[in-house]
Amino acid sequence: LLYTQGKRDLVGKQILISGGGTREFLDPVRFIGNPSTGKMGLALAQAAFYRGASVTLVCAPLEGSVPVQILEIANAAQMREAMLQCLPKADWIVMSAAVADVKPASYTPHKLPKKALPDCLPLEPVPDILAELGTKKHPHQRLIGFAAQTGDIVKPALEKLQRKNLDAIAANPIDRAGAGFASNTNEAVFLDRAGRQQTIPSCTKLELAHQLFDFIQTVK
Ligand code: CTP
Ligand code: CA
Repeated sequence: LLYTQGKRDLVGKQILISGGGTREFLDPVRFIGNPSTGKMGLALAQAAFYRGASVTLVCAPLEGSVPVQILEIANAAQMREAMLQCLPKADWIVMSAAVADVKPASYTPHKLPKKALPDCLPLEPVPDILAELGTKKHPHQRLIGFAAQTGDIVKPALEKLQRKNLDAIAANPIDRAGAGFASNTNEAVFLDRAGRQQTIPSCTKLELAHQLFDFIQTVK
């Protein structure tokens, strides 16, 4: 409320958000994952809810709660299925999840004794959910990605914006204090197809979420 002055500018909008870090299990106790805690996804869901949107959050296991529809999944294949199922109704789709890029080539339903673990783990790619949404979206829908990067954040984010057919992308530095995984604060550069660039200095993830929705409102 602090950031919106009670603004209810998203009433009537369906917003589909993904959050958290997907997990690709090798067996019931081991997975390939990443340090995402889902705080950005929760903040986006909270901000959209405050502003009156109907929100669905598709998320990998995360801590915290938010009064919106939540579909909890574990891996990329399940996130893909949930996102595709929710896509037709959505006006805005914001993909803040950190999707593990690869999965172990096989899954064993019983715990492997450590002696049975291979020296070298065969991997397979997982589907690129955002890129697929980019091929399926309708002209009235807005598709927004995130790009967590080290070093130069703008150039790789612009490349992803084009390659995945996005309307906008939030580029995040993850190699700076007060930004990135597990932090309560974040900073970003928002980019859109028209070439606009807006730099958001370090702020809470909730404030960043509001700034992103303000930016999306003005994407042509
Ligand atoms: N993403 C996705 N499915 C994947 C990988 C990424 O939907 N399998 C989405 C992320 O949720 C994010 C955006 O794509 O919104 C960019 O993610 P990122 O990891 O930066 O891009 P990649 O295409 O995976 O490129 P790389 O990891 O090589 O930088
Ligand atoms: Ca990736």
